[in-house]
Amino acid sequence: MKEKLSQIKELAASRLSQAADLKALDAIRVDILGKKGELTQILKGMGALSPEERPKMGQMVNSVRAEIESMLEKSVSELRAKEQAAKLKLETIDVTMPGKVPEMGHLHPMTTVIENIKSIFIGMGYEIAEGPEVEEAYYNFEALNIPKEHPARDEQDTFYIEGEGDFLLRTQTSPMQVRVMESGKLPIRMIAPGRVYRSDEVDATHSPVFHQLEGLVIDKGITMGDLKGALAVFAKELFGEDTKVRFRPHHFPFTEPSAEMDASCFACGGKGCRVCKDSGWIEVLGCGMVHPKVLEMSGIDNKTYSGFAFGMGLERVAMQKYAISDLRLLFENDTKFLKQF
Ligand code: DAH
Repeated sequence: MKEKLSQIKELAASRLSQAADLKALDAIRVDILGKKGELTQILKGMGALSPEERPKMGQMVNSVRAEIESMLEKSVSELRAKEQAAKLKLETIDVTMPGKVPEMGHLHPMTTVIENIKSIFIGMGYEIAEGPEVEEAYYNFEALNIPKEHPARDEQDTFYIEGEGDFLLRTQTSPMQVRVMESGKLPIRMIAPGRVYRSDEVDATHSPVFHQLEGLVIDKGITMGDLKGALAVFAKELFGEDTKVRFRPHHFPFTEPSAEMDASCFACGGKGCRVCKDSGWIEVLGCGMVHPKVLEMSGIDNKTYSGFAFGMGLERVAMQKYAISDLRLLFENDTKFLKQF
C-alpha cells in the first residue's frame, strides 16, 4: 500500500508538470483526489487492514493527499499566471506607435480670394449683402436700365426659368444694387459677392456658373473722385502697396459715366510678363457713377444723393493672383491641383 501511495504521488507530480492548461489540472484532480479517484480507492481498501495499521495508513494517505493538493494548487497558480501573462501580451497597446493622422484640408483658392476681398471692403466700412440667385427679370435687367431689346437679355446669354415668366438665374450680382437701394436705408456702403449664371459653353475662360462681387456706395455728394480713391485703395490691398490703377472709359447701362479699371501687373510691376500678357496691366473691374435713372427707379432722390458702383469677376481675380491659366481647374476639384495652394 505504501508503495502504491508513493507511485500515486510520483505519477501526480509528473502529470502536473506536463499539464498544459487549467482544464488538464482539473482532470488530474478528479483522477486522483475525486470520489472515484485513485487515492479514494486506497482509503476504501483500508477496511482490510488490521486495527493497528489503519490509523497509520490513514495518516499516510492524508499526508499524501495534502502534498498532492498543495502541488496542484501551486500548478494552478503557476498556470493562471502564465495564462494571464499571455493574455496581457496579446492585448498590449504600443502607445509609442505613430497614430493615423487625418489629412488636413484647406480652403479652396476661390474661397480664399472671396474672403480676402470681403475683408478688404469690411475694413473700409462696407457691409455684406446677400440675395437670390433665382432672380426676377425686373431686378436683373429693367431696374438696371437694361431695356427689353438689349442683347444681354437674349436667351442665348440668360437662363430663364421655364414657365415662370419673369424669373431667371441672375446673370450678374448687379441686381443686389437695386435690392439694397429699395430697402430704403441710406447712406449705402455695401458689397454683394455671389454666384451668377450665363448660358456659356465651358472653355478655358468661360463657365455657365461663376462668381462676381458687386459694390455700391450711395450718399450725399459722392463723386468720381470717391470711386477712384476707394478702388485704388482696394487694388493696393489686393495686389500690393505699389499697385497703380488706371480707368478707361467704358459703357454700362446702369452707370454714367462708366469705366473699366486696370491695375498695374503685380507679377512684373508693369514691365510686361506672362500674367499681364505683356501689357503691364491687368483688367480688374467695371465701375461707374450710378445712373440717375437707376437711382430714381429704386426710389432714391437723385437730386440729393449720388453714388458709385463696381463689379468684378472673382474667378478672373483668382486666376490672375495665382497665375492659373484654365478656369476649369477652379471647378474640377482635382486634389492634385488644389493641394498646390
Ligand atoms: N454687372 C457687370 C457685368 O456683369 C459688371 C459691373 C460693371 C458692375 C460696372 C457694376 C458696374 O456695378 O458699375 O459685367
